[in-house]
Amino acid sequence: MIDGHTRTCGLIGNPVEHTLSPLIHNTLAELLSHPLVYVPFHVEDENVHKAVEGAYALNVLGLNVTVPHKSRVMKSLVQVDELAEKIGAVNTLVRFGNGFKGYNTDMPGLYRAFLSEGIMLDGQEVVILGAGGAARAVAFLCASKNVKKVYLMNRSADKAAEVAKEVNSKSGRECVCPMALSDHGKLPEGRFLAIQATSVGLYPNVDEVVIDDEDFYRKIHTGYDLIYKPRDTRFMQLVKSHGGRACHGLKMLLYQGVIAYELWNGVSVPEEIAMQVYGLLDEAAER
Ligand code: ATR
Repeated sequence: MIDGHTRTCGLIGNPVEHTLSPLIHNTLAELLSHPLVYVPFHVEDENVHKAVEGAYALNVLGLNVTVPHKSRVMKSLVQVDELAEKIGAVNTLVRFGNGFKGYNTDMPGLYRAFLSEGIMLDGQEVVILGAGGAARAVAFLCASKNVKKVYLMNRSADKAAEVAKEVNSKSGRECVCPMALSDHGKLPEGRFLAIQATSVGLYPNVDEVVIDDEDFYRKIHTGYDLIYKPRDTRFMQLVKSHGGRACHGLKMLLYQGVIAYELWNGVSVPEEIAMQVYGLLDEAAER
């Protein structure tokens, strides 16, 4: 029931109409008996600053930020967490002093998803497909978790080189090696964890895949697709048909939300509660 004690959280982005975040946060609030509601706010580019200021004035407890505002929002904050600053993108705002502080929960969310799937990063050789915002965050995660080597492959090789240079310099390790996607045949022999961080294969283009060469998939022991619609992408199918294990990105979506919820409410969400939310997300993402 909404009453005088109810706190508001929300999402700013454009578009926001298909978001699953209200399901995550409103379910968490219900299961944990917190007086909290979460609503989506469609915010145009030129209104981001006003939206953040207005939300603070309205005593909004916290906000999520989605495309296309994840970088733009940073100049409207009183502080940005070190990790979010490094990644250059903020997806969670928490009330702090006289404004909001920005965090990035996408990357810790992916890490928690890896832990939950039993996927290790330490000492691994990793292939990242893509060099956009998502791939960049994944490359930072890998560099910070002591992977042995990252091959960052992108259609436009110069973008891969740019991201590799930035991640290597900010993490103080020369572990990211950029490659053109068309050079995937030059990937050294070995067994790799591959993280699919492009939009290729996303519903409704479910037959598309960024690489369909059999020789590539023979080298992949685990494939993690950040896409969760469909739940069995062409990339995942190819990994599995060559004996590898494959996961979709729904747990990353879950945990980025759980971590934001924890930041807003100063709680730690029990795993069985997170799994209840996951069950509902799994049904909703199917629609
Ligand atoms: P996001 O923030 O979700 O990562 P993005 O920044 O738009 O989105 O990045 C999309 C990624 O998908 C890029 O790596 C893009 O490759 P380019 O940098 O060469 O554009 C990749 N991508 C999109 N469509 C692709 C396609 N048809 N084949 C290969 N890569 C593709």
